[in-house]
Amino acid sequence: MSANELTSGDFTERNEPFDLFSEWLKEAEASEINDPNAVALATVDEDGLPNVRMVLLKGFDHDGFVFYTNFESQKGQEILGQKKAAMCFHWKTLRRQVRLRGPVEAVTDEEADAYFKTRARGSRIGAWASKQSRPLESRFALEKAVAEYTARYAIGEIPRPAHWSGFRLRIGRASGSGRCRSSSGRTRSSACMIVSSFAGLRRKAIGRRFACIREALSSCLEQTETEYRRQGRTRTAPFDRDR
Ligand SMILES: Cc1cc2nc3c(=O)[nH]c(=O)nc-3n(C[C@H](O)[C@H](O)[C@H](O)COP(=O)(O)O)c2cc1C
Repeated sequence: MSANELTSGDFTERNEPFDLFSEWLKEAEASEINDPNAVALATVDEDGLPNVRMVLLKGFDHDGFVFYTNFESQKGQEILGQKKAAMCFHWKTLRRQVRLRGPVEAVTDEEADAYFKTRARGSRIGAWASKQSRPLESRFALEKAVAEYTARYAIGEIPRPAHWSGFRLRIGRASGSGRCRSSSGRTRSSACMIVSSFAGLRRKAIGRRFACIREALSSCLEQTETEYRRQGRTRTAPFDRDR
């Protein structure tokens, strides 16, 4: 069996999609050539026009999926305005995707500070110097800003800029497993998590379709047999529907 085939432990049998996400991310860390935590982040503007770009997932747990950015950027402004977003991970080597959507909120200052401290010095300076999403006056203007902030924070800690922080896309635990099992009738809620493996999903969809057809056929056959018996006919005798 190939590594990306689902087994009996797949999402349709899981009550806990977060554990499965964690396993898949670990597998992706081993198999992807770079950025296994890269995720497409979709937001909408005030007119409902969608926007999508890549970000890096920096943490996840039952409270949600966290990434960091400049809050003055387009994505920052759209999330602050609409308070919702969607994510899509795609791990080509595993032929899997994970889709998430739900309400978004800012992480706490403590969380953002703690993460900011872990960033390389250049990235921390960059957070001050970069005007994400806004047009660059010139390359020189950016280099000048980098030089200025490098000089300003030459000694000591580099504080986190107020406009740089993290967002958490919230996924309710119940709705996560609920969405995964929605095909068998469980409820959906505003936040949802959809996990899929192309190979596994195709097999399962085909399997489900056959099961439906088999069920319909056998119920049809049963009705026919009952009718035959009622009419005192044998199975091979033609069934006269008009009688
Ligand atoms: C692989 C990859 C990872 C990225 N990660 C982030 C990130 O974590 N945070 C971020 O603000 N921008 C990240 N970017 C840059 C964004 O995709 C985007 O260009 C930038 O944030 C401006 O987006 P916006 O104008 O829609 O706000 C990443 C780009 C790539 C290609």
